[in-house]
Amino acid sequence: MHLPDYKEARKRDIRPYHRVEFQFDDKVKNKYQGKTFYLKTYGCQMNEHDSENIEALLEFLGFAKVDDYTAADLVLLNTCSIRENAHNKAFGMLGRLKHLKQEKKDLIVGLCGCMAQEASVVDTILQDYRWVNFVFGTHNMYQLPEIIDKAIEENKQQIEVFSREGDLVEGVPVRRVNDYKAYVNIIYGCNKFCTYCIVPYTRGRERSRLKEDVLKEVQELVRDGYKEVTLLGQNVNAYGKDIYDDYTMANLLEDVAKMGIPRIRFTTSHPWDFTDEMIDVIAKYDNIMPSVHLPVQSGSSRILKLMGRRYTKESYLELFHKIKNKVPRVSISTDIIVGFPGETEEDFLETLDLVRECQYDNAFTFIFSKREGTPACRLADPVPLKEKEERLQRLNEVVNHYFLENNKRLVGCELEVLVEGISDKKHMYYGYSDTNKLINFSSEKELKPGDILMVKIVDAKTWSLDGEMVE
Ligand code: 5AD
Ligand code: SF4
Repeated sequence: MHLPDYKEARKRDIRPYHRVEFQFDDKVKNKYQGKTFYLKTYGCQMNEHDSENIEALLEFLGFAKVDDYTAADLVLLNTCSIRENAHNKAFGMLGRLKHLKQEKKDLIVGLCGCMAQEASVVDTILQDYRWVNFVFGTHNMYQLPEIIDKAIEENKQQIEVFSREGDLVEGVPVRRVNDYKAYVNIIYGCNKFCTYCIVPYTRGRERSRLKEDVLKEVQELVRDGYKEVTLLGQNVNAYGKDIYDDYTMANLLEDVAKMGIPRIRFTTSHPWDFTDEMIDVIAKYDNIMPSVHLPVQSGSSRILKLMGRRYTKESYLELFHKIKNKVPRVSISTDIIVGFPGETEEDFLETLDLVRECQYDNAFTFIFSKREGTPACRLADPVPLKEKEERLQRLNEVVNHYFLENNKRLVGCELEVLVEGISDKKHMYYGYSDTNKLINFSSEKELKPGDILMVKIVDAKTWSLDGEMVE
């Protein structure tokens, strides 16, 4: 049994890079044929992509997927720690599963993902959730077959959570959700240690995959006819820094672009590591989508300092405008936290000012959530929740205003759209533009997910646009 430990997780010394190839254990292959699994994923795209690996590993064991948890033999929760409500959702689901397990004694329940890396969560599971069969951490995902097999064979709770990142495992099987768009991890973990954020503790320090491994994966996606690839990492801009002297995110983006996949996206970018070379590459290649997620978190330099964000309002704006000026038609989205400990009304007004200046195309807005073990958790936080909720509402009114204004400017334009699905209404489809806008559109022609076509925009809403296929 390995338990999580934040003191260990916090250590920043560089570990030797150790790449290992995933080994299939043939002893457990198809051992659970005839059994079913239900996998619930919380949180970000990293977790969604991890779940694609988890599904493939469960299928290797012989489990078949079902969409109703009450019908499954095994239920696994891939959890998120980023804010308290993600926690609450997972514990709420555990409550429902406890009831189910009273009726269905053989039900196997497991928890993995970021919450598994939290010592307090694992303590709770050990004390109050003895009936949970297994827990494994983000660094132990590739051990899933042996952990599940052991939990079932020994009928004893299994907890496997390394506190610090281990080997970089390549060749873990993947069951991709789509056959036209795919996630590709390029870097794991985060070294930024923003003071509010739990990710550096749950996901470990930055570890880049070898460029050869990334490019090989993209090459296979091109071969298999994929149309869009999203390069993933907690901070993709730091790609390569831990393993190369002279190969950066800009070089990787360029190499991926040259492979000719029609659409390339990347997320998330910390403003600190966004280089001029990266901006030039994004501007140069038509298949790198003109869409950048650039979390600002706050418009007050005082709060940014307390957050440990390593930039000021002024330096952020300089970068923002550089990207806008150099990348034609670029859309920029952001993340904003209100109610960080000690945020005053003046600080908040600075955030509103910054939003008015940036006029974001999309923004994810949050109330600060205390995460145990992070430095911000210990700061005095005198602003009442009600006031923070009001700030969030005021912020949302301003961001929503600009979403609509930006969208209205697109009426009459033609945008390139990748079809994602068919709406309930006849001849209606939806998809995302190169600038990452949701477009609902009509087409007399029969279309399928993965098709790329031009759509003329006829109407604008706050979160979507309406259009018609261009003949
Ligand atoms: N409270 C509120 N929001 C947070 N985020 C990260 N940690 C917290 C927290 N403790 C937000 C940040 C980040 C996004 C993924 O989640 O805005 O960019
Ligand atoms: Fe968290 Fe900051 Fe790293 Fe983003 S950059 S994952 S907010 S520590």
